[in-house]
Amino acid sequence: MEIDRRRIRRLIQRSRSRERALDRLIRAQLWLDPVAEAVQTAVGGFYDALGTPGRAIKDVMHGTRVLGHPLHPALTDVPVGAWTLGVLADWLFVVSGRVPPIAGDLALAAGLAGAILAALTGYTDFHETAGHERRTAAVHGLTMTGVIVIEAISLVMRLSSPDLRPIAVVLSTLAWLIVVLGAYVGGHLTFGIGTAVNHNAFYDGPTDYVKVGSRNDFPEGEMRRVEANGLPVVILRREGLLHAIGAVCSHAGGPLHEGKVEEGVVTCPWHSSRFKFEDGKVVGGPATFDQPLLVARERGGVVEVRLAHPIK
Ligand code: FES
Repeated sequence: MEIDRRRIRRLIQRSRSRERALDRLIRAQLWLDPVAEAVQTAVGGFYDALGTPGRAIKDVMHGTRVLGHPLHPALTDVPVGAWTLGVLADWLFVVSGRVPPIAGDLALAAGLAGAILAALTGYTDFHETAGHERRTAAVHGLTMTGVIVIEAISLVMRLSSPDLRPIAVVLSTLAWLIVVLGAYVGGHLTFGIGTAVNHNAFYDGPTDYVKVGSRNDFPEGEMRRVEANGLPVVILRREGLLHAIGAVCSHAGGPLHEGKVEEGVVTCPWHSSRFKFEDGKVVGGPATFDQPLLVARERGGVVEVRLAHPIK
């Protein structure tokens, strides 16, 4: 028994030591949890205070509405690009004097405007994170917020006095280096942890009809979860007709069949994204991707489904 326990302890230690240094470091930062909690409460409270328009604005900030794709990663290119240009212009001015100082100032200001928008969308996405993902997102968010403050100070110094320009240039350069680190953490959040990716992207499903049950398995108005060639599917009979969509929420993998259905729209039990059974479209965030849509039919009391169009 003792030998078994020691073996298990050794296995746990070995698997921990194989974890990436970044994840290990972030996992140990327990102090981030109350900070993250407070920020999430503030973000949720802000949108709640706006009432019904708040929900629509939040959907736009996630990218559910208007863009139809996660908005935050699209916006982050603006500050990264502008600030890179700004640092280049600053140092060309310092070294050669052939680039006017205003070039660096304008790039810094443009980057700052983009960064504020990116931060607003980032904090909106942060509202629905949890666990290690939330801690990693907090590190990313706090780093980038710090950068925004440094860049704002640099801009004020440049506008205040030419004498302060050298310090302002050093500050902007320092901020740019921190941006590189923050962007790395942001990339890890998406590519390593899977935040904001479509959680149905790696599924496939039947392109030909497969049996998933019989008529009596699908009573009117109730959702039923089935598997169709390995694809989790949720089926709803509404006004006699069968509708079928993927059962795994595209946002973060929530079980849609455990959610609530009203007027042919299912609400995810995890973060309340809403999807139409009729066409799988997302009609409420934080999800930004539609659900896989399936065609359901009944033949001789047998219910069959197939994908309406390929997932991959
Ligand atoms: S898992 Fe987040 S809304 Fe469904």
